[in-house]
Amino acid sequence: MKIIVAGTGYVGLVHAAVCSEYGHEVYAYDNDIEKINAFSSGQAEKIEQYVNEPGLVNIVKETLDSYLFFSSDLESIIEGADAVFMCLPTPPNLNGSTNLVFYDAAAEYIAEIVARREDERRIVFVNKSTVPIGTARHLEGIMDTHNVKNFGVASNPEFLAEGTAVNDARKPDRVVVGCDHDADFKILRRVYSQFVNHVRIKYIETTPETAESIKYVANTMLLTYISFWNGVGAKIGERFPNVKIDDLRLGVTADDRISTWGSFVSNGAGGSCFGKDIASLIYQLRGVSVSTKMLEASYEVNEYQKVYLIERAITEAGFKFNNKTVAVLGLAFKKRTNDMRDASSIKVIESLLGKGVAKVKAYDPLAVESAKQVFDPSQNILFEKIAYYQTAREAIEESDALFISSDCEEFRGISRTIEDAAPPPYLVIDGRRMIPDFEELAAKGYNYLAVGSMVMKG
Ligand code: UDX
Repeated sequence: MKIIVAGTGYVGLVHAAVCSEYGHEVYAYDNDIEKINAFSSGQAEKIEQYVNEPGLVNIVKETLDSYLFFSSDLESIIEGADAVFMCLPTPPNLNGSTNLVFYDAAAEYIAEIVARREDERRIVFVNKSTVPIGTARHLEGIMDTHNVKNFGVASNPEFLAEGTAVNDARKPDRVVVGCDHDADFKILRRVYSQFVNHVRIKYIETTPETAESIKYVANTMLLTYISFWNGVGAKIGERFPNVKIDDLRLGVTADDRISTWGSFVSNGAGGSCFGKDIASLIYQLRGVSVSTKMLEASYEVNEYQKVYLIERAITEAGFKFNNKTVAVLGLAFKKRTNDMRDASSIKVIESLLGKGVAKVKAYDPLAVESAKQVFDPSQNILFEKIAYYQTAREAIEESDALFISSDCEEFRGISRTIEDAAPPPYLVIDGRRMIPDFEELAAKGYNYLAVGSMVMKG
């Protein structure tokens, strides 16, 4: 199949690469020429400046110029295309709705070009990135307005998690394809031939609107599950003496119907999908006069979770942040990524600065450069108080307290570093329960405050 992937962000590039591995002729198109040049170089450092996913560079290197091509000239690659995958950014508006400005601009542009093609074979336009329910229909309208001939539209949402995206795309648990016409289902069956009739992978064919809804329901359910643990499980552990949250989790998730994923209590879930998708679904449901109380609660629990440990440090550990130096470990929204989108650390650091800390000593193994863009002192003078360090140890030295805000593996062994670099009295705020031997730490005089547990005073 000849496939065009329009938009080479994280979703687009992973999709293009994995499709090329299956022997399709794939053209990844983007109007950002610098990006296209970086990808066509096949060089890891250049590619990873834009998208950093384990395994991705190897596929690009292996398939580049044989099955995978990069182009910023759509006109020169459109002839003979069977499918155009729309992988455009869809950022949130302030009111929670999805901003379709980039999507619409790309769709209009693609429509103009496809309308002029000589080839008359059927072409299907496929929405891959998350877009509101009804967007495939909206895309059909754009194509019709431009007089595009012999086309279909489809919704084929991605379910990739960052850090495992290549693996998720190679071995998905399901492939969801929403179309109106048999001809389009047929094209997509050929694109995904390795997944059709697979023993393990569910290949689901449905309407475009159902496919669009599957993505929203899946993501908001996952966030709601995390919020349930944070809003109920963690709170029980924090309020009732002798309740051990880790045992509570084991006991509850022993039931096959209750997932282990999502049961790890935290200072909030971040990332590019959960917050954005729940806000968008709330907006879409309000638009059709449906009560959104449940989704709002899930969203609010998650937002509250990002900062409430700082309040607990004041009220339960008696810590005064004013003029103190606080180390923050873990800036990205989760381990093994440099992605700062909706990261809990943003709210944590803003809250610390609001409480008058003298200095924030920040460390993350991957995300320092992207964090510097988020905490830009020209946007907020208080961000000048943030200093970045090469190691966790350097960040901890000469600080009065530590906030662990992500689940990087290296933080699991951090108690030895704390003991070496920061003698008590010292407060450890653990937003991810990364310190298994916290009782020993408390016994040595440290104050330890974690999500899901009562404060332990040293
Ligand atoms: C998520 C979905 O998992 C994926 O299916 C969808 O396509 C995109 O959104 P991703 O954003 O990459 O993927 O992150 P994920 O690994 O799901 O984690 C999201 C957030 O939840 C992270 O901040 C993570 O640390 C947090 N989390 C996860 C918890 O707080 N507790 C958990 O038990 C699991």
